[in-house]
Formats: sequence, structure tokens, C-alpha cells
Amino acid sequence: MPLIQEIDYGTPAICSTKQVTLTIDGHEVTVPEGTSIMRAAMEADIKVPKLCATDNMAAFGSCRVCLVEIDGRNGTPASCTTPVAPGMKVATNTDRLRRIRRGVLELYLSDHPVDTLTSPVAGNCEFHEVAGQIGVREVRYGQAGKNHLDAIVDGSNPYFQFDPARCIVCSRCVRACEEVQGTFALTVEGRGFASKIVAGMDEPFLTSECVSCGACVQACPTGSLIEKSVVELGQPEHSVVTTCAYCGVGCSFKAEMQGETVVNMVPYKDGKANHGHSCVKGRFAWGYATHRERILKPMLRAKTTDPWHEVSWDEAIGHVASEFKRIQVQHGRGAVGLITSSRCTNEETYLMQKLARAGFGNNNTDTCARVCHSPTGYGLSSTFGTSAGTQDFDSVEHADVIMVVGANPTDGHPVFASRMKKRLREGAKLIVIDPRRIDLVHTPHVDAEYHLPLKPGTNVAVLTSLAHVIVTEGLVNQEFVRARCEDDAFAEWAAFVAEPRNSPEAVEKISGVPAASIRGAARLYATGGNAAIYYGLGVTEHSQGTTAVMAIANLAMATGNIGRLGVGVNPLRGQNNVQGSCDMGSFPHELPGYRHVSDPAVRAIFEREWGVTLDPEPGLRIPNMLDAAVDGTFRGIYIQGEDIAQSDPDTHHITSGLEAMECVVVQDLFLNETANYAHVFLPGSTFLEKDGTFINAERRINLVRKVMAPRAGLADWEVTQAIANAYGLPMHYTHPSEIMDEIARTTPTFAGVSFAKLDAEGSVQWPCNEKAPHGTPVMHMNGFVRGKGRFFVTGYIATDEKVGPRFPLLLTTGRILSQYNVGAQTRRTANVVWHPEDVLEIHPHDAEQRGIKEGDLVRLASRVGATTLHAHITDRVAPGVVYTTFHHPDTQANVITTEFSDWATNCPEYKVTAVQVSPSNGPSDWQQSYAEHSRVARRIELVPAK
Ligand code: SF4
Ligand code: SF4
Ligand code: SF4
Ligand code: FES
Repeated sequence: MPLIQEIDYGTPAICSTKQVTLTIDGHEVTVPEGTSIMRAAMEADIKVPKLCATDNMAAFGSCRVCLVEIDGRNGTPASCTTPVAPGMKVATNTDRLRRIRRGVLELYLSDHPVDTLTSPVAGNCEFHEVAGQIGVREVRYGQAGKNHLDAIVDGSNPYFQFDPARCIVCSRCVRACEEVQGTFALTVEGRGFASKIVAGMDEPFLTSECVSCGACVQACPTGSLIEKSVVELGQPEHSVVTTCAYCGVGCSFKAEMQGETVVNMVPYKDGKANHGHSCVKGRFAWGYATHRERILKPMLRAKTTDPWHEVSWDEAIGHVASEFKRIQVQHGRGAVGLITSSRCTNEETYLMQKLARAGFGNNNTDTCARVCHSPTGYGLSSTFGTSAGTQDFDSVEHADVIMVVGANPTDGHPVFASRMKKRLREGAKLIVIDPRRIDLVHTPHVDAEYHLPLKPGTNVAVLTSLAHVIVTEGLVNQEFVRARCEDDAFAEWAAFVAEPRNSPEAVEKISGVPAASIRGAARLYATGGNAAIYYGLGVTEHSQGTTAVMAIANLAMATGNIGRLGVGVNPLRGQNNVQGSCDMGSFPHELPGYRHVSDPAVRAIFEREWGVTLDPEPGLRIPNMLDAAVDGTFRGIYIQGEDIAQSDPDTHHITSGLEAMECVVVQDLFLNETANYAHVFLPGSTFLEKDGTFINAERRINLVRKVMAPRAGLADWEVTQAIANAYGLPMHYTHPSEIMDEIARTTPTFAGVSFAKLDAEGSVQWPCNEKAPHGTPVMHMNGFVRGKGRFFVTGYIATDEKVGPRFPLLLTTGRILSQYNVGAQTRRTANVVWHPEDVLEIHPHDAEQRGIKEGDLVRLASRVGATTLHAHITDRVAPGVVYTTFHHPDTQANVITTEFSDWATNCPEYKVTAVQVSPSNGPSDWQQSYAEHSRVARRIELVPAK
């Protein structure tokens, strides 16, 4: 397979219904009005030399290489900045133009290294290519004059370097940082010969505002900015398009390879979720795949205090099957279960739930969505009839008002955040509802119209209060509600929200948000044009998570902001395939496609396909499995690609459950925290080692393509298949595409999906079936999936987790850009330079009261546990609120979080824990025992596999 080279048309495509016809080099060309001559030429396969232009940013017109001649016009205008005109006659390659271009290139080359052979960009350099295209054969000025050839390389960023000697100050990097990424970290400083590119305040890239998205590196035509992996390994020789395995944006990448070695991950321009952009994780943090701590051999041990010993795949798989059978014989059919992974592919997840239902004969399957977006599933299916976001990402370009609730897109969903910021710079208005002043509130050229810094745990009160303003001020879209929603439910809801207890003035006392801000935000949302809501775990991970999702859906229906471009309700999904793992039937009560296990017609479909009788009773959720383990009725669990001992709340409860089981099987890349309690360890495979699909936050089904053989010999789906066969459930898939074919046969929303279609179309958004053969970018266009939209009354009930004299502060948790989830992957990359440890954000007032200074070690304690970590004093958090991340196991915020959970789905209340913070001298008791426990639990005795 060759290296994929996308065409660069020089300037962005223009959307216009009016077409213009002109002649370029004697060829008649028709393009939309407003298109540049350069793009028109490129579309006709006429290549105009260029250096400062590239098609993902506005033309700049600085390099003077792309000049053309136009009949009837004086001079030689730049083709990148000159729009086409009807009847125009353009020449792109005359003697005069060649002469001018050579002169320009010679000037550049007189101040440019001539190390053509040893240059890290040798073989793939736009600048050298243009010099070749123009036919520069000499540099008349030589290199003896004043130049920049001795400039010092900035290698401070762990992933790319900046060599000013190669820089031609074309400004593509500066514009990429502004227009594509929206960070504005780079500038051109000085004028003429003295002009140079600087990061931040003329400082190393690492200490500047740069967030390492890589857009500037990709834009650079000279290799002045270049990936260190390319410098080290040389140019790749082939590439494969695949999908990022980090967050729910689902960016497409070209994995650029030398044999089975990844040289570079370059965002793919035709990727429909990312359009060629990336963040530091997908772009650079892939080194964990070959990290020395990967476990590549299956391992067993009788007791968790024994050291691990390596065994063959056959022995490990046979052991799992016989142990699970033994447990079921001794303790009943329901005594075993499994947890599917939101990091694995759809095909792998589908096989896991099939193993539980058709193999174990119970519905004991659950997924990590239990602890993140299960309230989204329940809330949106109750109100709209489907458990997913309503829009595609492109829809944000049509939004006039963007409301972000309990999400931090610049850290959690960075590539989509860049799209959002672009729209905000174009003039859309922003409302942020979040206890913290997230970056989006004030970022270059973006200022939120309203930031509602609510007290953690009061989402429902604030969202209902927004509805109060909309109803009582006559801002309801009556026409939409009449036509599209259930009358009675609306009337009941409208009467409820209008009650005085839901007024902004009453809610100010509960939430701390000024009533005027609530009123202003509600008016803006209801009257500002197309209004779109994007929300995250700050909405769902509460005891009223489902109620808050319903409150959001109510707002969208009441204002008619649903069912067209630019509006909608959009959960920003955390993990790469959390949408897919839910779609594939990972929950204990639902078969694939969100169909209840109690429905005999649905069961009949799968019973026919699988040749078994299915249990109509919902199985156990993760917390119930652990409760049952402590009670002695649940004895065996197979956990694929999840680290519940680190990611789930109330760590003590989790570990007690795991300790009580007879057979804990963990399948993962590394010995994670859960593996400390495991009896069987099965090596997992990374996204680079298998074929399959992921589904992102916009319901987009993207292909994951294998670029290297599974390092442990088997892909995860092959391991599950082998366990099923050993257990007595025959599975004979030879490729994941056959699993997708089965999904399509059994699940109406996927009826039109196949690997062949995904190959041909790039990706599709479900539902994809006979009615929508190319997928569904925007849902609920002409009616809700459930028929009529249903309003729900959303009464605010304060969480039982209350502050008091012992625990006077509220802890809320989240993630940061450079780390991902429990950090298993990102902690094993150079991303640790940005976040080597979890820190506790605390307001200056609270810190001063406790005698805490910046960087002090502090004890963070709740009623369930305590840990220690360093303090960071900041007014990003309000007084009374502290914040930390959960990326590092040695601080582990979840030792602190409590057992409280969402009333409907058991999604844990991560976002509200009453805590106390005090100065500390050293690790907590928990941290000390954790260190000792891990030391014992991770011993590997190197008995070679048979
Ligand atoms: S670093 Fe590269 S992209 Fe930036 S101005 Fe220099 S040559 Fe152009
Ligand atoms: S890596 Fe991204 S954020 Fe950093 S300077 Fe380049 S474009 Fe800007
Ligand atoms: S935004 Fe998400 S999907 Fe895209 S590169 Fe970053 S982590 Fe990967
Ligand atoms: S490419 Fe047109 S002026 Fe540089």
C-alpha cells in the first residue's frame, strides 16, 4: 500500500450556488463564485506552485510563488488571493512567471540549509518540491550573505522540533494555530530580514500556550517544524487510514508506517469528524502501543497474593472457560458476568455481550458507560426516543448560540472544541454552565456571553430555572411544541417550571448563580437563532444525572431547537467507542440497538441468529455485580479493557467486591489496578493491531484498520471467540467484517452498514438502513424517533452528599487535555511532561484559610477515604469548590468519591463529594497500603509459556 498523499487545493472550497466559468492555460474551468484562481486551477489538474497557501486556511498571499498572468490585467497577481471572474483568461506557466518564481526561490534558498541528502525532510518536502517544479538550478546570491543558518533548534516539545534555519516565514504555522486550532500561540515577530516565528512570548514551545495539536507541524512546507519521530526514523513508506482510539471525537488518521513501525500519525483530511485536525493525544501519544510494560503473554495465578506466571493462550482460555463453568455449576447461572470495553471495537463489544447472553445464559453484561453517559441513554430515549446525540459535528457551523453544560471541550474533546471556537470567533454567542471557569469562557477572541458558575450538584435547578424564564416570558416556540410534542406532558411541564420555586431568584439561593445571569442566558438561548447544547459528564455524573439530561431535552423542545442543522442536544462522549459499546448491547437490560431483553420479538431475532434461548430478565449492573460478589452470589467476572479499580467510584467497595470473587479475568494492555485483584490476565491488543469499527459522539461509524500484527498473537475479538468456543458457544468468525454483518442482520439501525460500505463512503452515521442508506447526520428532522417528543417534569432534589463542618468543601473531578481517562495509555507517553501528577485546584480564599500555599502537599478527605496530592491555587474554581483529575493511580481521586449514584441508571455521582482539605506531611494510609499491595500483586514469575 503506498503512502497516501491528499491533494492540497491551496485555498478552501467555497460554497456558492453561482458558478463561474473561466479559462486556465487554455482549459475551460467552472467553479463556484468566490473560488481562488489557484483552487480553480488545481481542480482542473493544473498545479500552480505555492508556498504560503494551503487549503485548510484562508489565503495569505505572502510568498509570491503562485503568480499568474491574466489577460487584460497588469502585473502578475497571486493566484491564491485572486478570485475567479467570468470569462477570465489565466496563464499559469509563462516565461515571465517562471523567471519571477525562480528569483523568489533563489532568495529563499540563499538563506536555507542545502543539506538535501541529510535533511530530515528529504523525500517529502514541499519547499524542495516547489524548487524542483520551478526548475531552480542555481542560487545566484550564494549563502555568504547575512542569514539565519546558525539559528538554534527548539527541541523543547517532546514530539516536534522547530528549526528556524529552515523557516521561510510563510506564516502557515501561525495561521494554522489561529484558524485551525484556535490557540494563537505563534506570531511573526519583527519585519523584513529580522522577521521570525515565535511561540508565546518568544519562549520555548514547551512553556508557551502551545497545546501540541500538531496543526503547525502539518502546515509547515519546509520541515522547519517537524515531528521528532520522522527526524529519528526517516520518511514512512506506506500509510493506512484508521481512527483515533482516545476520545469520542473519533478523528481519522493516516498511520504512516515503515513496515510494522509507526513513524507518524497524521490527521486525515477526508476524516468527516476532524477534517484533518488533531489533538496531542491522537497525533503524538501512540507510543504506549510498544511500551516495554505491555504484557504480551497470558498469565495465571491461583491467589492474588501469588506471583503471576506466564502460560499459553490455550491454557489461559481453557482455564477461564472451565472456571466459569465450575462457578455456574456450584453457584448458579447468574454467578458470572462480564464488563465490555468502550475502548474496544464494536465487533469486540458485540461478541462480549453475546458471550454473556448466549454463552453464560444470563444478561450480566455492563460497560463503563454505566459510570459516564448511562443517564444520556435513559434521558434522551425517554424524551426523544433514541440514546444518542442529535447532530453531526459540522452542524456547529450553523449554530448562533452554543450552550456548553458540564463539559470542558478544549481538554476533553479538543478537535471539536477547535471547530466550536472557530464558530464563536465568527460571531456565535456562548453560554457556559460549569462550576469552573473552563478555558472556553475566555480564550483568544472568544468571551462567553454568560458563565453560570453553579454550585456542584445544582444542574437540575439551574436548567429548570432557564425553562422557567422561557415559559414565563413567553419564549416557548408554540408552533414546534404543538406540532412535534405530546400536549399533556408539555402542559404539565410548563405549569411545573413556571412555579415560583423554579424562578431564577429562588434558584440563585440554591445554585449561587445570579438570577440576572440565568435570565439573560435563557433569553439568549431561546431567542438567539439556532441554539445548540453540548454537554458532558458534568451533567450525567450526578444523583440527578438523568433528570438533568431530560431538563436539557426539555429546553431544546420548548424552543424548537431540534431537528435541523445548527441546533440539537449533543452529549460529548468520553471514550472513543462509548457510543458503540452502548449501541452494541453492553447494558444488562438491552440487546443491541437499545431493545429491551424482556421483548420477546427482539429476543426471537437473536435466538434465531444464535441458536439459543435467551433470558428475558435484565442482568446485573456493575455496582450490583460487586454487591453480589460481597454477598457471595457472584463469583466470576471477565473484564475487557476497563480498569474499574481506578475508574469507578468508591474504590474500597470495588476492591472488596473483586477480592470476594473466585475468578477475576482481566484483559488489558498493561497490568492495571484491577489486575491487582485478578487470577487470569489476558493480553489486550491496541487499535493499531486489529480491524473493526468505533462509533463517535455523532453516531459516526469509523473503520479501525490493522497496521501491525497483534503483539500478543491475538486481537481482542479472537480472544473472546476462543473463550466462547472453549465454553461451548461456537463462534467461527474469520474477520470482524463478518461480525458487523451479523450486527446488520439483527439490528435495524445498522441494517445498511458493512465494511464494504464504510470502505467506500469513509464513514456513516447510524441509523443507516433502507430508509437512510448513507446514514443520518441530523436526527429527528421530521418527527422524533419515539413519535412525539415528551417533556418530563424535572424537580430538583438536592443530593444527599452535603457539606458540613467536617467536610465543608465540594470536590468535583474532570480530565485534562494531555491525559486520558485513567491514564493507562497517556501516562506511558511523553504526555507526562504536561501532567506528571494529579493536583488539587483550590480557591485562594479556601487555601489561605487553611494555611495552604501553592505546591503544598495536602490531604483530601471525604467520609469514605483520603488521599494526598499537591495543591494548585487558582480562581478557576469558586470558593467552596475544589477540583482534581483522576489520571494517576497513586493519587486516585476515586478513593474519595462516594457510593451515591443517579436514581435511574446508577451512574456514580463523581461530580459532588463533600471533602475537607488540610496540609499534609506525606502519603495517606491508603496510599501507603496501595504501594505495598501493588508491589505484591504485580510480581511476575518468569516461567516461560509452554
Ligand atoms: S515554521 Fe514552517 S510554516 Fe512556519 S513560517 Fe516557518 S516555514 Fe512557514
Ligand atoms: S502545535 Fe498546535 S497549539 Fe502548538 S503552536 Fe502548533 S498549532 Fe499552535
Ligand atoms: S480529539 Fe479525540 S479523537 Fe481526535 S485526536 Fe484528540 S483524542 Fe483523538
Ligand atoms: S501561495 Fe500565493 S502568495 Fe504564496
